[in-house]
Amino acid sequence: LKQVPPLELGIKYFEMFPEEKDPLWQDPCLYKRHFMIWSANKSCDRLPKFLVIGPQKTGTTALYTFLGMHPAILHNFKSPDTFEEVQFFNGNNYYKGLDWYMDFFPMPENTTSDFLFEKSATYFDNELVPRRVFALLPKAKLITILIHPAKRAYSWYQHQRAHGDPVAMNYSFLEIVKAGDSAPRKLRELRNRCLIPGIYVQHLSRWLEHFPSRQLFIVDGERLKSKPIAVMNNVQRFLHIEPRYNYSAQIRFDQKKGFYCQVMDENKIKCLGKSKGRQYPPMEEEAEDYLRSFYRKHNIQLSKFLNKHNYRIPDWLERELSS
Ligand code: A3P
Repeated sequence: LKQVPPLELGIKYFEMFPEEKDPLWQDPCLYKRHFMIWSANKSCDRLPKFLVIGPQKTGTTALYTFLGMHPAILHNFKSPDTFEEVQFFNGNNYYKGLDWYMDFFPMPENTTSDFLFEKSATYFDNELVPRRVFALLPKAKLITILIHPAKRAYSWYQHQRAHGDPVAMNYSFLEIVKAGDSAPRKLRELRNRCLIPGIYVQHLSRWLEHFPSRQLFIVDGERLKSKPIAVMNNVQRFLHIEPRYNYSAQIRFDQKKGFYCQVMDENKIKCLGKSKGRQYPPMEEEAEDYLRSFYRKHNIQLSKFLNKHNYRIPDWLERELSS
């Protein structure tokens, strides 16, 4: 076998070990054997120290923006293809390899004090992602945001409509969430994409199969909206970033937008774009009741899970379970 040319050797290898056809990228600098064949002009410092993992529509862009204001925190270069997110660990980007991923990050000036990160809201509920992240970034810290899952589902539905998704345009929110198993396939698919990310306990459990709970921080998304300064202090504490950045002078509530926004030079204010903090009619009562009972058992499990792992129960969950 040693005398076979490289291509044939590769083919033979994967015949013998078919389970290895699907790559699992690891940090070359953590494995001596890999490091020895790692090109001398490459660097493992261009990997994130933490990730914001989603889920979608919980305030991930606001958190990303606030984090990016911090002088010691550097985010990824924005991807033109996937709404600025890198989305490496899910989907086909993963097969583009490590160099492709690292090229999204600036070279940090000081590797101990600079914090590289990326946020891809699609990571949270993808079955493959926790294992892949752990393989490459076993020491990375993870940040997730949870809001009431019914609100998340409704915001997501509005997002799909704003993007002209034909199924979301043709069906009401109630029709989508209540679609049964005999409904058309596209409707069922949209229902699943709308509802499944909100089964938070299922996804969080998967992350903790790989990561210790001390590496995962859970942000209460309602607090991120109403008390972002306090939330950002907690996030900094979790990341062990010193000295603490004082957000109170840097973000301010904007009456017109109805959300906290970034204070710019000359006291100007920059809020997130129109697609964040959209105006839409309130959720129909029937849909709200349906979703409350749909998520009830998952929310109960979530609160047990959070207690077990010593996480604070988000305000919305406390309210939901006491109602
Ligand atoms: P809506 O547009 O439905 O209100 P994501 O960035 O993960 O897609 O989340 C979008 C949601 O972030 C918005 O949903 C909005 O409610 C919430 N959000 C939280 N803080 C915000 C802020 N400071 N500015 C704008 N939207 C914010």
